[in-house]
Amino acid sequence: MIRIYSEQSAPDGNPFQVVELSNANGMCVKLTDWGATWLTCRLPVAGRLRDVILGCETLVQHSEQGAYLGATIGRFANRIANAAFNLNGKRYLLDANQQQQHQLHGGTDAFDKRRWQISAQGDDYVEFGLLSADGDQGFPGNLHAKVRYRLRQDNALAIEFEARSDRDTPLNLTNHAYFNLDGESADQTVLQHRLRIAADHYLPVDAAGIPNAPLREVEKGGFDFRHAKVIAQDFLSDSDQQAVSGYDHAFLLNAPGLHAKAQVELQSSNGDLRLKIVTDQPAIQVYSGNFLAGTPNRSGGVYANHAGVALETQSLPDTPNHPEWFQYGGISKAGELYRKTTVFLFQAS
Ligand code: BGC
Repeated sequence: MIRIYSEQSAPDGNPFQVVELSNANGMCVKLTDWGATWLTCRLPVAGRLRDVILGCETLVQHSEQGAYLGATIGRFANRIANAAFNLNGKRYLLDANQQQQHQLHGGTDAFDKRRWQISAQGDDYVEFGLLSADGDQGFPGNLHAKVRYRLRQDNALAIEFEARSDRDTPLNLTNHAYFNLDGESADQTVLQHRLRIAADHYLPVDAAGIPNAPLREVEKGGFDFRHAKVIAQDFLSDSDQQAVSGYDHAFLLNAPGLHAKAQVELQSSNGDLRLKIVTDQPAIQVYSGNFLAGTPNRSGGVYANHAGVALETQSLPDTPNHPEWFQYGGISKAGELYRKTTVFLFQAS
């Protein structure tokens, strides 16, 4: 079922459009056209409704927080070093919104801060569309982007991105939801969640989150999630994590694709809820909410660090400056259709 209504005033002075999708099991997600953002995700677990993504009490607070809660990230998720890159023999300078040096999540006025248009809707889905003009935050080409959220009867939310530019451009779209399967209001960090990631390699980064070495094997260290393990187990146990106060790294997925076997799996602390992620994106950024403290929560208070984990499927960070990673995506050719799907499937036991 779909329900659309308007509420409060967004930063552009017009009301937020809120879209509610619900299924026959009593699962309900809320979305808004502001930033094409995923606001809430409630589903019944052990007879009670549990909200499993972080969010704020009001839409205004949500639009003002700086943690990118649930937002659609573009044109390029994650970092571009020194906010610059070369493409087709030309140097491009981007808006630098991280320490006035690098670009993070597409720039100061990026896709998460835009009014998207509801371009299609149905009983179980809504589609938001955005035109990002040539030169937007420094990126080349007029880009038409779409994000479609579909709530399925099996308690999966499928997020599909589609985009096309009239010039070659860096392109890396993702959703930035933070999950806490114990319940957003449980007042517990996610450090006791179990996480599995089918990835043999991760990308080391410096203290600014910029890749500073080639892809590295996870071997049997803190980055080895090939068998499910409690996040706390090796948390902050190596210098790679210490540099960024926890996990904030891209893992290159061994077998991206929309097949039955999930590439990533997260489990609540007592195992009563699982999230399975299936994606055709090449990589996933795992961000353990290292700087979440102070972000407004849904009950008049604030979140603590590690109150949620962002699981952002995407291409590798800083790809525009690493032609050796173009094979994993991140650059879209003029006229080419970019299409990526990530399915978040929730299973209560
Ligand atoms: C980044 C973090 C950053 C956060 C912003 C994540 O995707 O990897 O480094 O602090 O977004 O909320």
